[in-house]
Amino acid sequence: MSNIVSIAVFASGSGSNFQAIQEAIERGEINAKIELVVTDKPGAYVVERAKVKNIPVAALSPKNFDSKVAYEQAILSKLQECEVKWIVLAGYMRLIGNTLLDPYASKIINIHPSLLPSFPGKDAIGQAMDHRVKVTGVTVHYVDAGMDTGPIIAQRAVTVVDGDREATEQAIHAIEHELYKEALQKTLT
Ligand code: GRF
Repeated sequence: MSNIVSIAVFASGSGSNFQAIQEAIERGEINAKIELVVTDKPGAYVVERAKVKNIPVAALSPKNFDSKVAYEQAILSKLQECEVKWIVLAGYMRLIGNTLLDPYASKIINIHPSLLPSFPGKDAIGQAMDHRVKVTGVTVHYVDAGMDTGPIIAQRAVTVVDGDREATEQAIHAIEHELYKEALQKTLT
């Protein structure tokens, strides 16, 4: 079996994608190890999920740093300590700056709840509902300096449940957990 790939998962919220990735790793479906969870929101539920799985957490509030560069340098030191090779964004609500993009060129992946390039940025599901699209979906892509603009790795369509945001969101999350696993299986080396 090839070498296990060391990854860090970045998340700002609930962390259901983090948990799905970790459980796929536990089942032997992704050849990786989550060395670290990085969050910019120390109170986020992902912290609890990481504790349950005994995965170290770096909870760093950007407001405690003088600049974005200083904030990302602190993250970079933690990643280097853990010899992290890939960064997996899973609901991390910040643009990644050059301090991390340069050392991790083509090694940062994101998941977004729409069929990019439609509905980039915040509340992609709300944007899709507002436009009354009938089909939306999920995209996994490489991260560049833009907002949800990097090269696309995988996409899957999800039918919008008419006027029902909660049901649509549930359908999207279920597809996310499956699609991220498949994309990581193929991409992490
Ligand atoms: C997901 O919908 C993901 O696509 C987006 O943020 C959400 C994170 O959900 N980038 P969770 O925290 O993994 O449950």
